[in-house]
Amino acid sequence: MLWLDAIDVWRGPSQVLRQVSLRVEAGEIVTLLGANGAGKTSTLLTVSGHLRPRAGRARLAAAGREADLARLAPPQIVAAGVAHCPEGRQVFGGMTVLENLRLGAFLRRDGEERADIDRMMGLFPILRERSSGLAGQLSGGEQMMLAMARALMSRPRLLLLDEPSLGLAPQMVERIFDVITRIRDTGTTVLLVEQNAAMALEIADRAYVLESGEIQLSGPAATLVDDPRVQEAYLGVLPAPAEPGPADGRLS
Ligand SMILES: Nc1ncnc2c1ncn2[C@@H]1O[C@H](COP(=O)(O)OP(=O)(O)OP(=O)(O)O)[C@@H](O)[C@H]1O
Ligand SMILES: [Mg+2]
Repeated sequence: MLWLDAIDVWRGPSQVLRQVSLRVEAGEIVTLLGANGAGKTSTLLTVSGHLRPRAGRARLAAAGREADLARLAPPQIVAAGVAHCPEGRQVFGGMTVLENLRLGAFLRRDGEERADIDRMMGLFPILRERSSGLAGQLSGGEQMMLAMARALMSRPRLLLLDEPSLGLAPQMVERIFDVITRIRDTGTTVLLVEQNAAMALEIADRAYVLESGEIQLSGPAATLVDDPRVQEAYLGVLPAPAEPGPADGRLS
């Protein structure tokens, strides 16, 4: 569904992605892990057309059509089937929950907005309870749910999620990850950027690890979770102690 082939991306004077290649197949949850500043957000911004690759290709195949993402403006990429739920849950705080959801359907003219709003409220029941309240008065987790629901209002084939669990209480994090799985199960492919590597690897099919703008590791999530490099750097597992030598034996 999505292919990045050896893309180079620059922001101002600095190169932030180097020869990044990744693919996302329809029906998958793919997670992109990496430390602060590794280039995760820059990767998503390139897919949604807010950053342009200087080299390499970014292609999308959705609904039987193939698009060269580097040639499309962000609204055209939304129309092609990609929705980007940005870092920092950017909802419009002075507008109601319902108004925020309607904004998510701004490119659509199919008259099914009402049905989709109902569907979103089924997926996120709290939004039904709070539909006429101001988005700015929701808790952090509820705002994240609203941001996700708003992104889904464009009926994307591919949903880009940037750190949805950031700053949320553990119980809310569980709910967010549960909803991400349900979103995938209802037919939307997900590219998930996360700092909560343990949870992300639990729900993802495959994963990529980005370091300083380069892909360092990739593979099935179930394999990466056992990789000592991933365990040490992202899962907080201490390296295994060295085998005790003969000299240590005498002390015990
Ligand atoms: N607006 C910007 N202009 C120039 N450089 C930027 C800008 N935003 C980020 N960068 C730089 O681009 C690099 C990649 O940043 P990016 O935000 O993609 O990383 P990230 O993996 O999403 O990090 P984080 O975990 O902090 O969200 C970093 O070196 C960062 O300093
Ligand atoms: Mg980021």
